[in-house]
Amino acid sequence: NYLLAGSEGTLAVITGVTVRLLPAPAEVRTAWITFDSTVDACEGVQAILAAGVLPRALELLDTNALRIAGGGAALLLEVDGPVGTAAPQLERAVDVLGERPLAVRPADTAEKTAALWELRRRASDEIKQPFAHHLSEDIAVPTGRLAELLRRLGDLAATTPELTVVAYGHAGDGNLHVNLLYDDPDLGRRVRLLSEQVFRLALDLGGTITGEHGIGLLKRPYLAWEQDATALSLQRAVKQALDPAGILNPDKVL
Ligand code: LAC
Ligand code: ZN
Repeated sequence: NYLLAGSEGTLAVITGVTVRLLPAPAEVRTAWITFDSTVDACEGVQAILAAGVLPRALELLDTNALRIAGGGAALLLEVDGPVGTAAPQLERAVDVLGERPLAVRPADTAEKTAALWELRRRASDEIKQPFAHHLSEDIAVPTGRLAELLRRLGDLAATTPELTVVAYGHAGDGNLHVNLLYDDPDLGRRVRLLSEQVFRLALDLGGTITGEHGIGLLKRPYLAWEQDATALSLQRAVKQALDPAGILNPDKVL
């Protein structure tokens, strides 16, 4: 199983999976928390995790992403556990945010919870919709470096005002979808350059160029930025041993 981690489908074909089902959590609490700035929101994420609260979801919409919903930045926080435990976790999380939030809106009905998740799910499409072109990344950094990531991402974005840079996603995992959005097709090269700066930034902060979507073809040229030659040749050797004819997801990654 460990060999499958990060193998991009190059080591195995899964033909059957047996799963063990866990009971649904007895209690879930969801809240929408708004902030003045994206960096404030990320400091909030760090404070919540540092307090030992382990949310089942902690999703960020940065200021540009939130334009679709009225400005500022927001966290969608959801905690769960046995009866009587979710509400205190939510309270604790809000407590450690201190003065940072502009507003905390707990969703007290199933409809309100569903509406919040709908907003988050639509984000990916709605962010891209007004633009002719986009490049969507999914860098991740240790959660303790999240606020620094967003601060430096803001500095980078300021160097290219002709592009719109949006970050949203799985902040609780340190994993963000950084989207580079533009209309002018001549900006393609500039976009590529900025995406490379974003990769460097993630690596600088001890992170990775892909936290969720994988290397694939687009990021293949950058794999060696993250993994050194020894690590890569070890992976090639494992691949060669298990797939000598090279038939598993050929021409990917290695
Ligand atoms: C999301 C997809 C893009 O988080 O991974 O919306
Ligand atoms: Zn995602």
